[in-house]
Amino acid sequence: MSATVVVGTQWGDEGKGKFTDLIAAEMSMVVRYQGGHNAGHTLVVDGETFALQLIPSGILNPHVLPLIANGVVVDPKVLISEMDMLEERGVSTEKLKISGNAHLILPYHQELDALHEEFLGENKIGTTKRGIGPAYADRSMRMGLRVQDLLDEEGFKEKLGSTLEYHNKVLTRVFDQPPLDADVIAEEYLSIYRPRLIPHIADSVSLIHEELEKGNRVLLEGAQATFLDLDHGTYPFVTSSNPVSGGACVGAGIGPKNIDRIIGVAKAYLTRVGAGPFPTELFDSIGDHLVDVGHEYGTNTGRRRRPGWVDAVMLRYASRVNSLTELAITKLDVLDDLNEIKICVAYDIDGERHEQLPYNQNLLYKATPIYETFPGWKCNISEITSRVDLPAEAENYLSFIEEQVGVPIGMVGVGPGRKQVLNFEERDTEK
Ligand code: GDP
Ligand code: IMO
Ligand code: MG
Repeated sequence: MSATVVVGTQWGDEGKGKFTDLIAAEMSMVVRYQGGHNAGHTLVVDGETFALQLIPSGILNPHVLPLIANGVVVDPKVLISEMDMLEERGVSTEKLKISGNAHLILPYHQELDALHEEFLGENKIGTTKRGIGPAYADRSMRMGLRVQDLLDEEGFKEKLGSTLEYHNKVLTRVFDQPPLDADVIAEEYLSIYRPRLIPHIADSVSLIHEELEKGNRVLLEGAQATFLDLDHGTYPFVTSSNPVSGGACVGAGIGPKNIDRIIGVAKAYLTRVGAGPFPTELFDSIGDHLVDVGHEYGTNTGRRRRPGWVDAVMLRYASRVNSLTELAITKLDVLDDLNEIKICVAYDIDGERHEQLPYNQNLLYKATPIYETFPGWKCNISEITSRVDLPAEAENYLSFIEEQVGVPIGMVGVGPGRKQVLNFEERDTEK
């Protein structure tokens, strides 16, 4: 009767989707618990690439029940087009369930997201402009519309009317924009999306607990990551939800005792999309190399991701706030050609050594990384299938990460494919 969480330990795009798809084989249910279609999770199975935004990455495993839980903000248009894309490619979405308590993204959320970014100008967050922040803001303001509101057409129109009255005042009086028409939005949501979504709307809390009570395993798939978390990330350059493992409890309706495995996914280097502090950022040819070899352009927005070295100070913090039981390292193969690999073990801030993340974020902008340097392995590791075959230099680099973070590595990715994963636990039990 227990659940596993897959959580990002950095600034997103660590490869959460890939590991979710992989371990979904052992799960009966895979649940998205927060975020929305700001996420872009890429799965490569038998040479075929699937880019998912809202649908849980377990969907490619036919025995898995995929569930979008209450903590997610759902844009029905995107969800339906993702369902259509999967169906066209032979993946059934019939079993997909969506919590009636999940909040809906409406057209004004997207517009407000873009206008807010424009208003911020140079200080913009660099959001995905998907309406995520405004949808969660409406939820907190208690004026959001939920998936279950689609069940009651008259109620939907009423709620939309009053929330849009408010947002139209903001659009017209604050941003000088034309107002939106409630009838047009209601028509789109009730005539087009409602019939498609109704068969999928469910009591997600009961579904999850029934599964746990049967003794089956449930996987909770995080989107975004620890340092994009509204509470624990580099505020305000964060998303508007709680990706950390505790967010899985709230976003799916389970208690902490239901979780016994928490997998922190970390890239073998570091990337960030959008603005905000980044102590180990690289502005040189090595950074360009990581972007080129790692194809570091957003799955979702196509933006170039900012590259840097692994930051063990961040990973220690991620270990603490998520209670990580293991690390899953991705993209080790991207480092194949490097002569040297660095890892930040502490920050020098005004001449003082900091091994833990300073709570005062102003200090993060002044942090000079203190690096430990490792020789590269200079060979192709993407075909390796067992940890024993890893070059000694790669093994040393990984052992050092384990030592620095104090969390064992369970899996290592050496390529985008589902099979390009080294299982470290297997070898440990063989020893
Ligand atoms: P997510 O948002 O955390 O699910 O990660 P993304 O899918 O946005 O970004 C990770 C990218 O790296 C995707 O294109 C994956 O196919 C790819 N990927 C995942 N693991 C590996 C790996 O071990 N090696 C390589 N080369 N690519 C990987
Ligand atoms: P996955 O799940 C990387 C970033 C945006 C921006 C900030 C706020 O694929 O790892 P938002 O649209 O959420 O209000 O944007 O968060 N961001 C991500 N960065 N991966 C993601 O998701 C992200 N989702 C949001 O770039 O800096
Ligand atoms: Mg991504």
